[in-house]
Formats: sequence, C-alpha cells, structure tokens
Amino acid sequence: MNGLPSRVTLVEVGPRDGLQNESAPVTTEAKIDLVRRLQDAGCREIEVTSYVSPKWVPQMADNHAVMSAIPRPAGVRLSVLTPNLKGLEAALADRPDEIVVFGAASEAFSRRNINCSIEESIERFRPVVEQALAQGVKVRCAISVAMGCPYQGEVSADEVERVVRAMKDIGVQHCGVADTIGVGTPRRVQAAMERALRHFPLHEVSGHFHDTYGQALANIYACLEMGIHVFDTSVAGLGGCPYAKGATGNVASEDVVFMLNGLGIDTGIHLDRLVDAGAAISAVIGRPPVSRVARALLAKRVPS
Ligand code: HMG
Ligand code: MG
Repeated sequence: MNGLPSRVTLVEVGPRDGLQNESAPVTTEAKIDLVRRLQDAGCREIEVTSYVSPKWVPQMADNHAVMSAIPRPAGVRLSVLTPNLKGLEAALADRPDEIVVFGAASEAFSRRNINCSIEESIERFRPVVEQALAQGVKVRCAISVAMGCPYQGEVSADEVERVVRAMKDIGVQHCGVADTIGVGTPRRVQAAMERALRHFPLHEVSGHFHDTYGQALANIYACLEMGIHVFDTSVAGLGGCPYAKGATGNVASEDVVFMLNGLGIDTGIHLDRLVDAGAAISAVIGRPPVSRVARALLAKRVPS
C-alpha cells in the first residue's frame, strides 16, 4: 500500500530500555512476567536486559536470573546489551540470540554512558563482536544521540556516519540509529538514516526513537517512507536513559502498533494483549501507561 513496507518488525525494548531507568527496584518476577506477557502478545523480538556494571545500572543486576527463567518459545528472539568482554562472557552463558554493542555519535555522551571515547569504545567492541559472531550470535549496534546530544547539542549526519562506518568495519551486522533524547524531526531523521543505509542493507537498519518531544510517530513514518521496517519500541512507553537527564521512554509500542494497524501494516502483535502487558507492568511501577493508545483503550474497557 502506498509504497510503505507491508510488514514491520518491532523490537520490544521495554524490559531493558524501559526498566533500566526505574529508580525503585523492579522485582525479577515482575520482569519475567513482563517478558512472558509480551510473548503472549505476539512480540517476537525482545530486548530483555543488559550485562553492564551493576554499579552503573543497578536495575539490570538480575540479568542472569531473568534470562534463565523466561520462556524460550521457538520463533522468539532475545537480545541483550553487552558493553565489553566481561558483559559478553556473562551474556553468552545465558544464550541470547543477539547482542547489542552501544556506542554514541558524540564524544561527550560516549564518556558519560560507557566511560570512554568513541574510538576507545570501538576498540572495546571489536573483540566483543568477533567472539559473538564466532559463537553464532547476531550482533546489533545502537548509536546513541544520533539526532542531538544532551551534552554536546547539535550532532551532524557526518558524526553519525563516522560511527556507523566504524561499527560496520568491526563486523556489526545490524545498525540501530537512536534518538536518545527525542529531539529528531522527520527530515533530520531521514538524513541520519540515509547515512546508515550507505553502509548497511535496508533490512539491517532500524530506528530507536525516544518520544520526549512527541516526534517519534512522525519519525517512524518518515522511516517507513524510506522503506525502513524495523523499530525499537517500549510497552507502555516505559523508560529513559540514566545518562540522558530528562529523556523519557521510547515511543510506546501500543501507539506504534495502532498506527501501523491503521496503515494496514502487519506486525504480528495483538494490540489488546500488548495493552494488558503494559497495564500490568505500569501497575507494578505505580504509574499509568504513557501510551496514549493504551490509555484510550483501557478507558473504554468495562470494569468486570
Ligand atoms: P568502567 O568503570 O569504565 O569499567 O565502566 P571498568 O572496566 O573499569 O570496570 C569497573 C568495574 O565495573 C569493575 O568492578 C568491573 O568488574 C565492573 P569493580 O572491580 O569496581 O568491582 N564491570 C562490569 N560488571 C558487570 N558487567 C560488566 C562490567 N564491566 C565492568 N559488563 C562500563 C565501563 C561500560 C562497564 C560502564 O560504563 C557501564 O556499565 N555503563 C552502563 C551504561 C548503560 O548501561 N547505559 C544504558 C544503556 S545504553 C542506552 O540506554 C541507550 C540505548 O537505549 C540507545 C539510545 O536510546 O540511545 C541503547
Ligand atoms: Mg534508548
């Protein structure tokens, strides 16, 4: 239909990107329940947790407990973040389908988030990528602050491409372009995505949009116009980034599924069950879902 992709893959990042920013501990059981509910809703790609320093991100310290307890039905792919070899080693023991190395398009953000320069980060990722690939594990990268940085300000498409190229050179297979603080607008997003597409094939480029300034759906549509058909989303709009002050959650999965349903684009995700998953985790963390679609649909439900 009208030149847009007929099918879109959503990578559900709520359990990782969503929950990592919660200051009150979320129990391991609640995280496992969230992943199970997401699977029941038809999510086939789930970013479950991260193997980072528990001193830096305490909420993800139960990575092993979560990964070893969640169901692993056929057809569901699980990804995890690994910033270095220590993280990779721990992650591999839990058999993820994919690992994510995460760099940044600005020096300042790289230092705040992973405590090293961009160049050092690439050298740190090189053996991580090599070993993951040797074990048959797919490697994705996330490039943070691709549309703007909370410390540096403007980030150019050239700066984004520099990191895209470096990631490709070390063997990364999929390139995720991230608007960490949600300042991107459609044309600007297209310019950054175009740089990623110079180095990675269309099906290996994805968008990761935080919705801080309410631009995420428009940005996803702008990507669809380019044929990009993989996006990270977060159920209930959970989340933020601990190293980007004021950053709110990723675009809510429910909002994206609703828009794609309206466009006749298949995601394989059951919207009502997704709303249930978002409502359940929102009850755990004591906040209503940020998703406008979830709020609208929940308000229409008749109390039983
Ligand atoms: P460092 O302090 O430079 O590392 O941190 P180090 O190698 O000097 O180690 C220091 C301590 O951390 C040592 O422990 C290590 O063992 C331990 P100590 O001797 O002090 O007891 N350590 C680890 N522990 C567990 N797992 C590990 C690990 N590595 C070292 N993998 C490091 C460098 C990268 C580890 C640190 O900066 C870190 O963990 N940062 C976390 C960053 C993070 O998780 N950020 C949020 C995720 S990224 C994101 O949200 C953006 C994204 O969504 C896209 C977007 O929106 O932009 C992906
Ligand atoms: Mg993020």
